[in-house]
Amino acid sequence: MLSTIARFSVKPSRMASRALVSTWSNVPEGPPDAILGVTEAFKKDSSPKKMNLGVGAYRDDNGKPYVLSCVKKAEKILLDKSLDKEYAGITGVPEFNKLAGALAYGDDSNVIQDNRLAITQSISGTGALRIGASFLNEFYPHAKNIIVPNPTWGNHIPIMKNSGLNLEKYTYFDKNTNGLNIDGMLEDIRKAPKNTIVLLHACAHNPTGVDPTQEQWNQIAEVVKERDHFVFFDMAYQGFASGDCNRDAYALRKFVDEGHQVVLSQSFAKNMGLYGERVGSFSVVCADANERARVDSQLKILIRPMYSNPPIHGARLVSTVLGNQELKQEWLGEVKSMADRIITMRDKLRGHLENDFGSKKPWNHITDQIGMFCYSGLKPEQVDKLKDEWHVYLTRDGRISMAGVSSGNVKYLAEAIHNVTKD
Ligand code: LMR
Repeated sequence: MLSTIARFSVKPSRMASRALVSTWSNVPEGPPDAILGVTEAFKKDSSPKKMNLGVGAYRDDNGKPYVLSCVKKAEKILLDKSLDKEYAGITGVPEFNKLAGALAYGDDSNVIQDNRLAITQSISGTGALRIGASFLNEFYPHAKNIIVPNPTWGNHIPIMKNSGLNLEKYTYFDKNTNGLNIDGMLEDIRKAPKNTIVLLHACAHNPTGVDPTQEQWNQIAEVVKERDHFVFFDMAYQGFASGDCNRDAYALRKFVDEGHQVVLSQSFAKNMGLYGERVGSFSVVCADANERARVDSQLKILIRPMYSNPPIHGARLVSTVLGNQELKQEWLGEVKSMADRIITMRDKLRGHLENDFGSKKPWNHITDQIGMFCYSGLKPEQVDKLKDEWHVYLTRDGRISMAGVSSGNVKYLAEAIHNVTKD
């Protein structure tokens, strides 16, 4: 109070000079986001040849954002219903939660039959991870240690750390083979203190495009059990790895069948093309319905001060598609065709590099890896050259979003990659 009086008593000229010192003058400029910053740079480039292979967002074969046909039909159905815009409950649209859970865990999963899955709608996968990490930080009954693959999706790291978890990495990718280092992975998981939280990408690992085989998943499940670890699954790409939503849920369902009480982050950004709608879920496998009710109550207490309750439109779209047999079948076909188009682009990119441009480097990993991304092995300087000389934008770890490659630009991309790698 005193200082306010003092300020008002100074002469006008002195007041003006005081106002020049901003409250925020000590805020330093931060670096752009490693993934979304690439899009910002891309937008500033005026070259007609430019390609954005940074963010993982699916494009059709004309390089255009793709709104799924089943989603367009669901939008029409919703419009015709002329629904109100009332608040959803804190955990979102109930029908969405029911159908999303069944898609992930399987219609006949006993977790669902026994009513022991606590599930909440979330602000896409990122929001689900954030709710999950905060829930674990508050209620996980052991040390709050989480291990994540090396490398992992860049945002996992601040999400976990900002939620209060202690984060370490486990071996995942083998630079020599551009594949999975399963022995290193198992060893690191085994070495981690008992009851460590292990973050696993359920399918279509981001950024590497390298997934364990079903046999390797079984080995991972055994080590996790042996060490009493706890699994946090991130499933942002169900359907995008193999084109088959059930096959892509193998790891999640295997762990649950073996009695692991996993938690799961799920996203509909990629597989239903609902990027900007921000729709996903976070779920917790509980022991019984009573425990589920208690966990549910705590999820509500956690979410309410974060964002009160989630937006409804995306969740209504998902539940309209998944709840209508005809639209669901159409969706499954569209997921498969998106996955197949990416596989075709992988074949073409490798083919152009090896056959048209005669690259002598090994490029088998382009076709061996799966999902949206190719972890190309390009070095940061080569990525910079692609941007500066070829107007091709990737993240600096050499990750290529194959979803942004099309018949019209794949040869140009191969030429660019060959040029920056040939010496
Ligand atoms: C990506 O990895 O490119 C996507 O998951 C988008 C994002 O938010 O990073």
